[in-house]
Amino acid sequence: MARSLGRVLRLVAKPSVVVADVGLLDVCMYRLDVCIIVLDKTWPRLDILSLMAAGTDKFQKATEVARVFTPAAPVSEADLFAGRMYQLRKVIDTIIQRGQHAVIFGERGVGKTSLANVLASRLIFPEKKVLAPKVNCESADTFVTMWKKVFSQLDLITRTPTIGFQYTFFEETKKAADVIGDNIDPDGVRRLLSILGDTGVLLVIFDEFDRLENQEAKRALADTIKALSDNSVNATILLVGVADSVSGLIAEHQSIERALVQIQMPRMSESELGEILDKGANKLSMKFGPGARKQIVCLSRGLPHYTHSVGLHAARCAISRDQQNITEAHVEEAVKTALEEINLSLRTAYDKATFSPRTDTIYAEVLMACALAPAGDFGYFTPAAVRDPLTAIMGKRYEIPGFARHLKDFSEPERGTVLKKAGVKRKFRFRFTNPLMQPFVVMKGVASGRITNSILGKFGE
Ligand SMILES: Nc1ncnc2c1ncn2[C@@H]1O[C@H](COP(=O)(O)OP(=O)(O)OP(=O)(O)O)[C@@H](O)[C@H]1O
Ligand SMILES: [Mg+2]
Repeated sequence: MARSLGRVLRLVAKPSVVVADVGLLDVCMYRLDVCIIVLDKTWPRLDILSLMAAGTDKFQKATEVARVFTPAAPVSEADLFAGRMYQLRKVIDTIIQRGQHAVIFGERGVGKTSLANVLASRLIFPEKKVLAPKVNCESADTFVTMWKKVFSQLDLITRTPTIGFQYTFFEETKKAADVIGDNIDPDGVRRLLSILGDTGVLLVIFDEFDRLENQEAKRALADTIKALSDNSVNATILLVGVADSVSGLIAEHQSIERALVQIQMPRMSESELGEILDKGANKLSMKFGPGARKQIVCLSRGLPHYTHSVGLHAARCAISRDQQNITEAHVEEAVKTALEEINLSLRTAYDKATFSPRTDTIYAEVLMACALAPAGDFGYFTPAAVRDPLTAIMGKRYEIPGFARHLKDFSEPERGTVLKKAGVKRKFRFRFTNPLMQPFVVMKGVASGRITNSILGKFGE
């Protein structure tokens, strides 16, 4: 260990700035030739040290994987962005139509921010520059603080006539925030946006809009959208947030119904998730085999975070073995590593939901069957949909009375309300309270062998 670490230090202590998040191990290399290596207990599994010691090429490739597959960060590079053609087209159509604004809403983690991030690069207007300030709303924000953040990202050229000379002006570039000062109200915002809107294509993005608690700010924003629309101002507002419906995001939406285009972000389709893997592998000059690709797509349950997470570890596993083709064996390893990295609160919630002092209970298996059950809008599934996956997992026929109690228990606080119940008696539907729990449960099933490849393939999406 000491020898390989010494070699690692020599290898990485080059005069360059690289900050690489390599998962279980964080390596920071600074210009000062200082290398800080933080190891956690599970470091041998990832074998990054041996990758580093084996040569810089291999190590570089392993770190490049982390640039391509980013489970913890939204996509910001347009060429790594997959799918979402329908939603992109709808937002772009909205931007083109004067007086129209848009709201993107959907479950947590489906890719809303990623879409907002790549929008500007998809807006190609000849001879016009695109201005797309993006702010993240915070719970304590007010109308004034939100717009200050927007205007601090926009420049305004002011022209003052020069004293003594006719027809000459003094031009100065100022931050729009300095021009508007503290007197920010819907009408002031409208006037400033109409000036800025004449200088290019203007798109103002408010992400994490669900975090905004200030009702007055929401009302004032609805008034602003109405004023922009009524006055046909050349600027588009895009609201982005976690919600099942627009009314969950902005209660005042009725007053601006005609001006606000609603764009729901569903979970990603199989082909979109597959595209994430293909684009990533392409960048790395690697390839996911069909079996490996299908496995990752199926266990992601439409949530791209898991596609990135398992894709990342599977690619690293292949690199460590000098292989370019990523196989099912690499994915199996990767699932174990990815599970170890899942945040503690999810793991604790899973334990709370499935724990039983008795060994003959089937809480874990029923939860796995729920995670595989075909679901409809917003991830809701019926008890009948749990029957077939549970039968496949248990290897014997199960009918609804055999697991109805488990479903009920999962929707109660004692088991952490892992499932949310909706509907009326005899017509109950369920869904995972935290959508990110669903693929986690599938991965637990895959890692423990209770969900085999054939079960995973059968209950794919
Ligand atoms: N179109 C896409 N192509 C490739 N990867 C994507 C795409 N959309 C999302 N991702 C990946 O999925 C994960 C979640 O994406 P993102 O943060 O954009 O989702 P979100 O809906 O904004 O989440 P939240 O509700 O937590 O704000 C990230 O790892 C991101 O890189
Ligand atoms: Mg987001």
